[in-house]
Amino acid sequence: MNNYRKVQEILQKLDIDAVLISNGNNMYYVSGFAGETGYVYISQKTHAVITDFRYTIQAEMEAEGYEIITIGNGGYEEAINDMLTSEQINRLGFEAEDMLYATYHKLKEGLNVKELVPLGDEITRLRRIKTPQELEYIKKAESIGDEVFREILDFIKPGMTELEIAAKIEYLLKMKGAQKSSFPAIVASGINSSMPHAVPSQKKIEKGDFLTLDFGCVYEGYCSDMTRTIVIGKASDQQKEVYNTVLKAQLAVLDFIKAGYQGKEIDKVARDIIYKAGYEGCFGHGLGHSVGLFIHENPRLSPTEEEVILAGMTETIEPGIYIKGFGGVRIEDLVVVTETGCENFTHSEKNLIEL
Ligand code: GLY
Ligand code: MN
Ligand code: MN
Repeated sequence: MNNYRKVQEILQKLDIDAVLISNGNNMYYVSGFAGETGYVYISQKTHAVITDFRYTIQAEMEAEGYEIITIGNGGYEEAINDMLTSEQINRLGFEAEDMLYATYHKLKEGLNVKELVPLGDEITRLRRIKTPQELEYIKKAESIGDEVFREILDFIKPGMTELEIAAKIEYLLKMKGAQKSSFPAIVASGINSSMPHAVPSQKKIEKGDFLTLDFGCVYEGYCSDMTRTIVIGKASDQQKEVYNTVLKAQLAVLDFIKAGYQGKEIDKVARDIIYKAGYEGCFGHGLGHSVGLFIHENPRLSPTEEEVILAGMTETIEPGIYIKGFGGVRIEDLVVVTETGCENFTHSEKNLIEL
């Protein structure tokens, strides 16, 4: 990964002499450096990774063509100042959406620069449309999720706790080649499934429970995300009704989605179906989000998203119905949007599974 030229175009457009990139995913995107601490510095003349001794060798290995600067006892301020002085930088951009207020003040006091210019999401925006290589990584990450879903169905038994199932999911993801989970797995059973982002607990799985499994992993830096809801034992008529309404909404969106619609137009397809079925007030989150180096990226599919969805953007399609005291259902696939429709990266069964 080496996208510094795209950043140089942004500098030119914004009339900024250099930028300090601090968002870890953006550092990785522009330089290939996946270390956890440091900055990527880019001007028209220089592209450098500034980090500390713990990451020097890693940066040399990962950030091809970049100058690698290891900070000394003078810390980041000294290393950055040396650069600013030698390049006569007046206007230095920084990622205002990422930087801690305390760090900003430290840099403002310590740096020899006329102006620190807050950038919006200009750098992050570069990541919106995925390259074929990025899509391959996301697809692979999602296929690991599919494999884990198949295996976890043989593992789940009444009497197990949500935490045991979450631990098994995360173990299997890694055993199948994932670097890590893309977020802590959500395992929500019974009435806990009425909380969209329930935290796995010591609650035991019981017959008659809805069981929502929402998980994903990271492969070559890229995230996946999927959700399936099953029933332990026989589903009641009400459970079937709720489930099939969510499924109908999800399938309708998969059929509808293609490049050129605003995020809110796509969201509305699912929302209309769910609300018309009598579940207004039970679908309180957006329909989906983009996925890449970070699990929740923009643009979103939500009632307020005005941005137009373009070919090469990834989106989750995850409608849900959540009923307090009863339970909830969410079904989530991850797709890449194309000019004519989408390619669905998720292949797990989604007709109601009664386990
Ligand atoms: N795991 C949270 C989500 O599906 O967005
Ligand atoms: Mn999810
Ligand atoms: Mn999601």
